[in-house]
Amino acid sequence: MSEEQKLFKVTIDGVTIEVPAGTTILNAARKIGPEVAPPAMCYYSKLEGSGGKCRTCLVEVAAGSTADPRPMPKLVASCRTNVMDGMVVKNTTSEKVLDARKGVVEFLLINHPLDCPVCDQAGECHLQDLGYEHGAVQTRYEFKRRTFVREDIGPYIQLHMTRCILCYRCVFVADQLTPDRVHGILDRGDHSRISTYISKAIDNPFSGNMIDVCPVGALTDRTFRFKNRVWFLRPLDAHRDCPDCCGKVTLWNRGEEVFRVTARKDPWGEVQSDENGKPEWICNTCRFEKKNISDWVVEGPTKISRHSVISANHYQKEVIPPDPLDKILDGRSPLLLMDIHENSQVNQASVRLDEIEGPATGKTFNGDPHSTGHNPTDTRER
Ligand code: SF4
Ligand code: FES
Repeated sequence: MSEEQKLFKVTIDGVTIEVPAGTTILNAARKIGPEVAPPAMCYYSKLEGSGGKCRTCLVEVAAGSTADPRPMPKLVASCRTNVMDGMVVKNTTSEKVLDARKGVVEFLLINHPLDCPVCDQAGECHLQDLGYEHGAVQTRYEFKRRTFVREDIGPYIQLHMTRCILCYRCVFVADQLTPDRVHGILDRGDHSRISTYISKAIDNPFSGNMIDVCPVGALTDRTFRFKNRVWFLRPLDAHRDCPDCCGKVTLWNRGEEVFRVTARKDPWGEVQSDENGKPEWICNTCRFEKKNISDWVVEGPTKISRHSVISANHYQKEVIPPDPLDKILDGRSPLLLMDIHENSQVNQASVRLDEIEGPATGKTFNGDPHSTGHNPTDTRER
């Protein structure tokens, strides 16, 4: 049997799955589902060579393989480490990983400004989500942060270098999708920055995809900046017959007004692929020049599966099968999800909590509805 056809068994956070040899730990975890998948700020499955830069995807390898079950001595970048047969990986179940991830977030935020209230990426920023989930309350950094002036790189894109986390995704887009790359990471060490060579403008028909891959608000759409907040907009799947790209987009509307057009995203926040696995990048004409609803055939509301403020109030979070909860519950009924009104003595309609003095106790629900555990002469209870 060739190496590619072999299936390796890997256990991640207690869930076992079989994946083809050569699969990374990150992609094996994504196959299980979002609950066990590590966050990824620089890896982008549609961009060759991406990953290995940000360290947000670190995991603990508790057993290397069946042949050699020793743990790996250090945490490893799951986007760059392939699974071995019998490997046991800990992500959210590892204290070490959670602690390291907190450190990585603190590190990424050393120079990143906390300007979410005025940043166009707010609501769909991966760093914002990561900060909420894994961030520390305070930074320990005492030195001056590096700052840059905003730069218009071409007619459609504005660069806020202060927000950039140097993930290289936009550089890979320019290399792999556009005819000429005129921007890149200049200088070294803490002087590293994204810029164009000799103040060139980025002007090619697929440059807008750099905005879509940027995980933070460093590259923003100049035609949308400060026009609206994403959570006030209604994302709609739409398409048009485009001669240059797939023409399949998400329209971000308020009423009939199209505020912006983006590529459609998969559950990992990456540009969605078609049925043949080809990424559905969109051209600048669809993105920047088709801002009338009549330019599009609207298919219906976009499903937002990635947890995000955009999905709050409007959408159900989609669980990608197999749901790891099923395995964890092992056939037991989920008591945590029970209907409290049917299963609990609490919240009986006959008991008016506003009419009793002091805190309710078991007696209140189990006998005298006006009874409380409160003894008016005992001041310790107050
Ligand atoms: S500008 Fe955005 S996509 Fe480009 S390296 Fe910086 S963070 Fe990554
Ligand atoms: S996603 Fe693995 S190092 Fe960035």
